[in-house]
Amino acid sequence: MLRSHTCGELRPSHIAENVSLCGWVDRVRDHKGVLFIDLRDRWGRTQVVIGPESTAEVVAAARTVRPEWVLRIHGTVGARPEGTTNPKLSTGGIEVACNSLEVLNEAQTPVFQPGAADLPGEEVRLTHRWLDLRRTAMQENMFLRHRIVKIMRDHCDLLGFIDVETPMLGRSTPEGARDYLVPSRLEHGAFFALPQSPQLYKQILMVAGFDRYVQVAKCFRDEDLRADRQPEFTQLDLEMSFVEADDVMGVIEALVNRTSKEILGLDVALPLPRLTWDECMERFGHDAPDLRYGLEITDLTGIAGETDFRVFRGAIDAGGRVRGIRVPGAASRFSRKDLDAFTALAVEAGAKGLVWLKLEPEGEWSGPVAKNLGSIAEKLRTTLDASPGDLVLIVADSFEVSCKALHTLRKRLGTVLELFRPDAMHFSWVVDFPMFARDTDTGGWASMHHPFTAPRAADLDALQSDPAACRAQAYDLVINGSEAGGGTIRIHDSRTQEKVFQLLGISPEMARERFGFLLDALQSGAPPHGGIALGIDRWVMLFGKLDSIRDVIAFPKTQKASDLMTGAPALVEQKQLVELGIRTVVPPQTPVV
Ligand code: AMO
Ligand code: AMP
Repeated sequence: MLRSHTCGELRPSHIAENVSLCGWVDRVRDHKGVLFIDLRDRWGRTQVVIGPESTAEVVAAARTVRPEWVLRIHGTVGARPEGTTNPKLSTGGIEVACNSLEVLNEAQTPVFQPGAADLPGEEVRLTHRWLDLRRTAMQENMFLRHRIVKIMRDHCDLLGFIDVETPMLGRSTPEGARDYLVPSRLEHGAFFALPQSPQLYKQILMVAGFDRYVQVAKCFRDEDLRADRQPEFTQLDLEMSFVEADDVMGVIEALVNRTSKEILGLDVALPLPRLTWDECMERFGHDAPDLRYGLEITDLTGIAGETDFRVFRGAIDAGGRVRGIRVPGAASRFSRKDLDAFTALAVEAGAKGLVWLKLEPEGEWSGPVAKNLGSIAEKLRTTLDASPGDLVLIVADSFEVSCKALHTLRKRLGTVLELFRPDAMHFSWVVDFPMFARDTDTGGWASMHHPFTAPRAADLDALQSDPAACRAQAYDLVINGSEAGGGTIRIHDSRTQEKVFQLLGISPEMARERFGFLLDALQSGAPPHGGIALGIDRWVMLFGKLDSIRDVIAFPKTQKASDLMTGAPALVEQKQLVELGIRTVVPPQTPVV
């Protein structure tokens, strides 16, 4: 070992001991001829003093060191002089008087200093990720990730789950996103797909009798990226046999409780609240609502139907709905400009506009269209339970558009009005999802989760007669308005699976070609089974109170799905393409070797 202790280890109990430390130069300060070097490693920071007692050789060497150089020092632990202790630092009670200093490696002036308070832009951080990962905040994020994954693994281990690795090179599994493809060298024109999830493998493991499977699984989805989405992300993926939805949810609830206790010291009451999908859409306009605050949606279609107001009438006549959110006491909180911005948000979400109304102290509605309310003004007040000073935002449109617009507004209001404590954690389940939704491109049915999801037993007949009414045995875990996990009970008989494929427009021939192995497995003694996958990156982000998924992944991709550090994706040598039987249609550029 090059060192006797780490930079986070020394305490007053070590005073008078001779020690050696290794680390990076965080900061060098010259205080009236006495040099202070803060030496940093992943464990912490220690103040090293080069003072009058140090030899001329050590002083000379110390004067040359620069930030981010790598040093090894020997010295004696001493108490910090009174008034100079730092209670914020674990090593803040001591310092090390340096009696030898060895430069293990020099460093060029860093593009940014990991120890500095001001952060450069994200592009710089991602390009020089090794510097960014030296920052204490990023190191803490990675430790948090390690701890959460360990809790997850331990939890599953104690419950008898077995960790099985499934292939990265496989066949496309439909999870609703585009695949990342890998060309085959031995079979030109054929491609592997990187897994969007281990869904079918874990189902096959159930057929094979493994009963309880778990994996920390890398998943790949080529989809549009957002703050909580990466093209390559990690799931805690699990599957169980001979279970019902409640059993899978029970395993996850206990994990929620355990993680909250160990990471945040929170005791989460179980069972977690459950909302049906219908209820979510009615009350919050979204299937992963943020329940840290209220601002529920009220349906006003009945009342609005009593007016001739063009905006309301038009939507109702077209089969739509009129729905609104009452924002208590917010009438004077927002300027005209703010309200215009809310209107723009609603329009961006697809709405034709936004009606805003303020209830004045005298009990009258005010706002650009208040005069159009006529006889429904009073009913509006009672239905919304509005008090003077309240603001009301109303969208008249199709149910889908009103959900989207009101959800967007609700989210914005929750943040702007600070309606929740920053440390609040809210966990809930959303259940009874529709099995199918209309595919906006093709007009056909598409799975809401994936095609292997079982319908509720009572809805089996509806598979044929009324697919829209068919509800799935599906459950999504929602944390603070984020979808933090999703799972289902699976179809375990091949006939139902074939029916679902057919409904999704997958012909029997195509089903056999793509999923023949699954259908055969289901016919060879498949147990009833179900499972779930948790988004590990999202869990870490949520438990760490972080805003970006990129801060919990060591080497993330940008919004454009590129890795700024390595420059991936990159062009390859022509020779490689020839081997793979691939010719690209883009004009040739300089190959990256
Ligand atoms: P699903 O597609 O719902 O289910 O994924 C499970 C969870 O994974 C997380 N997640 C993501 N995290 C980061 N970036 C992404 N691009 C991304 N996409 C999804 C979410 C989500 O809830 N095979 C099923 C699970 C099952 O049925 O057992 C599946 O993958 O937190
Ligand atoms: P217009 O006459 O179309 O400018 O609309 C009058 C007011 O109603 C404006 O404040 C619009 O923002 C609002 N509005 C228009 N269409 C809708 C709608 N579908 N839902 C809610 N508000 C709307």
